Amino acid sequence: MSGARHLYVHLPFCAYRCGYCDFVTLVGRRGQHAAYTDAVLAELELERPLLAGELDTVFLGGGTPTFLEAQSLARLLDVLPAAEELTIEANPETITPELARCLRLHGVTRVSLGAQSFQPHLLEVLERRATPDAVRRAFYHLRDASFDNISLDLIYGIPGQSAADLERDLEAAIALEPEHLSLYELEAKPGTRFTHAHGAELSRQAEAMEHYLERVVHVLRSAGYRWYETANFCLEPGRAGGRDLRSRHNLAYWQGRDYLGLGIGAVSTIADRRWRNAPRLRPYLDALAAGRRPPREVEPLPPDVRVRERALLGLRLDLPLALGSVDSALDHDALARMQALALVERRGENGSGTIALTERGRFLGDAVAAELIA
Ligand SMILES: C[S@@+](CC[C@H](N)C(=O)[O-])C[C@H]1O[C@@H](n2cnc3c(N)ncnc32)[C@H](O)[C@@H]1O
Ligand code: SF4
Repeated sequence: MSGARHLYVHLPFCAYRCGYCDFVTLVGRRGQHAAYTDAVLAELELERPLLAGELDTVFLGGGTPTFLEAQSLARLLDVLPAAEELTIEANPETITPELARCLRLHGVTRVSLGAQSFQPHLLEVLERRATPDAVRRAFYHLRDASFDNISLDLIYGIPGQSAADLERDLEAAIALEPEHLSLYELEAKPGTRFTHAHGAELSRQAEAMEHYLERVVHVLRSAGYRWYETANFCLEPGRAGGRDLRSRHNLAYWQGRDYLGLGIGAVSTIADRRWRNAPRLRPYLDALAAGRRPPREVEPLPPDVRVRERALLGLRLDLPLALGSVDSALDHDALARMQALALVERRGENGSGTIALTERGRFLGDAVAAELIA
């Protein structure tokens, strides 16, 4: 085995908790940031044999990685293996000119900035701390530190968000000229405080939103962005000096490549196994301080499961999927039906052929892909 070329590190700490968030996060805990960093680095040493000699991508996700106490963050960045793409997720209010320079100095090549919206009333609904001006300021601090690959996260489907609000958010995001944009439809988990508070508005919103994705795609394409994955857009190479600005880390995931995840709640997929570290901090710290692997759930991944996943994830991309690599996962009757409905396009013969969702199929997204899987 040649080893995984993609590394994810989960940094769970946040200054506060946003009502809609369902990620593994911990509020504050300044006193534990150094110990967590030690534990992550100890886990890296235990799992290093699973990694390739050279990595393609490292992704620091959260939580709020840029909330990690500065010394710990610098130490982590110094010790993690080098990679061509090193992304960090950042909350706007954490980005000072000093931190932006420090990230650049320590090898970060790409920043994914959680803007979510540029409308004060929607940021309030999401319980965000950063104002629209703080988002812009953070963006400029990153540019001043010579970051030339910045992604903005936006959420749509926020309770109370009108179609005009969405247009204004897209306009404000485009005005900053980011290299990459992720547009996530708000997921509100049943039973959470957020769903409780906004339940009625959320169901109204679901109906109003039927054409939001079409609008997002139209506006961003008109501004020169490529819709390369269901929720992701990057500047066309012609607008970006020939650079391919797709997220290489996420692309690897959508293409079914192996990756190693470190930290609480982190998932790893390597060869025929997937494991997820338990989300609790104390058992994670204790296990690694004692030189043991943290508690985790391991599941076998037989080849047919990996092929099914590759088909489901691969169909999210704007590239044709080689039939040879996913044929065994497909329901061929469903495929014929979807072709007749012009939701899927098939090219070439079985062995060397490809399938891809048509434009209409892509708007229906995962529903079409799920139908195609046997
Ligand atoms: C792992 S979060 C961390 C980012 C960072 N802490 C922040 O809040 O900006 C990455 C992105 O996931 C998206 N996200 C988080 N919760 C979501 C939800 N419930 N529905 C849709 N998107 C969500 C947000 O756009 C967020 O920027
Ligand atoms: S800051 Fe980001 S990770 Fe933290 S609670 Fe808010 S959305 Fe979740």
